[in-house]
Amino acid sequence: MIQKNILLCVSGGIAAYKACALTSKLTQKGANVKVIMTESASKFVSPLTFQALSRNPVYTDTFDEKDPEKIAHIDLADWAELILIAPATANIIGKVANGMADSMLTTTLLASQAPVYVAPAMNVHMYQHPAVIKNMRKLEEWGYHFIEPGAGYLACGYVGKGRLEEPETIIEVLEEHQNNNLLLSGKRVLVSAGPTREKIDPVRFFTNRSTGKMGFALAHVAAEMGAEVILVSGPTEQKVNNNRIIRVDIETAEEMYEKMNEFFSESDIVIKAAAVADYRPKTIYNQKMKKQPGEWNIEMERTKDILKSLGEKKTNQFLVGFAAETNNPLEYGLDKLEKKNLDAIVINNVAEEGAGFGADTNIVTYVNRFHEKEELSIASKKAIARKLFLLIDRDLRADSQ
Ligand code: CTP
Repeated sequence: MIQKNILLCVSGGIAAYKACALTSKLTQKGANVKVIMTESASKFVSPLTFQALSRNPVYTDTFDEKDPEKIAHIDLADWAELILIAPATANIIGKVANGMADSMLTTTLLASQAPVYVAPAMNVHMYQHPAVIKNMRKLEEWGYHFIEPGAGYLACGYVGKGRLEEPETIIEVLEEHQNNNLLLSGKRVLVSAGPTREKIDPVRFFTNRSTGKMGFALAHVAAEMGAEVILVSGPTEQKVNNNRIIRVDIETAEEMYEKMNEFFSESDIVIKAAAVADYRPKTIYNQKMKKQPGEWNIEMERTKDILKSLGEKKTNQFLVGFAAETNNPLEYGLDKLEKKNLDAIVINNVAEEGAGFGADTNIVTYVNRFHEKEELSIASKKAIARKLFLLIDRDLRADSQ
C-alpha cells in the first residue's frame, strides 16, 4: 500500500506508454499522483491520458502558471514526497546529472528535496555508453535510487538491458523501500570500508584493490533505513551524501583498529567491509629511500586483526565480517566466522565476474552463526546491501526472541 504524494516525471521515450499503467496502478494503491511530462513525452502520449488516470492536472510547461498565487515548479517540488522518473531517457539523465533546469521537469527536480527514483529506458548501446554510465553513477552518488531496466525485447529491435522495468516491479521496489525505511531506526551502525595504506617512506606505501564501494553502499543503505551510521574509511574516492552518516577517515590498519574500537561499544550492528592490510613495513623511513645497487628487501610485520579483536570483546553487538576469497570461498569463510566469533559472514568470491573489488555489482553468500546460508545473486552493491540488512534484521529479531 502506497500512501504518498508521488510526482511521476515522464520523459520522451516509447516506454512513456508504460507510465500510463504505472499512474493507474499507483492511484489504485492509494497514492496521490501528479504527472510532469517533457515536451517529447507528450509526442508519445497525450497529457490528457495522464490527467484522466491521475485525476490531477498534468504539467508540461514551466511558464504555464495555472495558479497566480503559486510558482508551479516550486509548489510541486515541495508537494512531492517521492519523485519517480519513468521512463528516464539518456537525455533527461544527462540533464539532471549536469544540473540543467530547462523544462518543468528539470526545474522541479532541482527544487525538490524528496527522494528520487529513476527507472531508465533506452537502447542497449545508449545504456552502455560511457557518458550515460557516468551520469547515472553521478546521480547514484547524490543519493538517487535506480530501478534498473530488465533485459528483454526493446522497441528498436535489439535484445538487452534498456527496457523500462515493468510497472508492477517498479511499484514493488517503491513499496519495499517504504516498508524498510524505518527498519533500522534507533539503531547505531558502524561500518568499515575501503583499503588501508601502510607507509614505506613519505612517497611509497602498500595497499590493495579495495575501492570502498561495498562499505559505502552499506553505510548509505543503513542510513536510508533510519540508522545512525559511523563509517570508518580508508583512502577512497567514494563520497557520502547522507547526513545520518558520520565519516571518519583513516589510513593505516592501526588507525582503523583504534577508531573501530573507539566506536564499538556504542554500536548495535558492526560490519567490517574494509580490506585491511595483514602486514606492514617494520620500518617506516622518514625520508624517501634512494635506490641502491642490488635488491631491496622490505621486512614486514603483522598488523592487528581488527575483526578478531572486536569478536573477543563483543557483548550485544551483531558483528558481521566480510571474507574476500579467490578459492574455496565457503570453507575459508566459515573458518573466519568461527575464528573471529562473528554473528555472520558475507563471503565474496572476488575472482568471479561481477563480484569483488572495484565492481559496481556484487555476488555474495551470507552465512549466520547457525550456518544458515543465503546466496545473493548478482545485483548492484546497494541492492546487495539492502538484502544484507534484511537478513541481519531477521537474525537480530530471532536473537531477541
Ligand atoms: N580483517 C580485520 N583486520 C585484519 C584483517 C582482516 O579486521 N588485519 C577483517 C576484514 O575487514 C574482513 C575479515 O577480517 O571483514 C576477513 O578479511 P580477509 O582479508 O578476507 O581475511 P583475513 O582475516 O585477513 O584472513 P586470510 O588472510 O587468511 O584470508
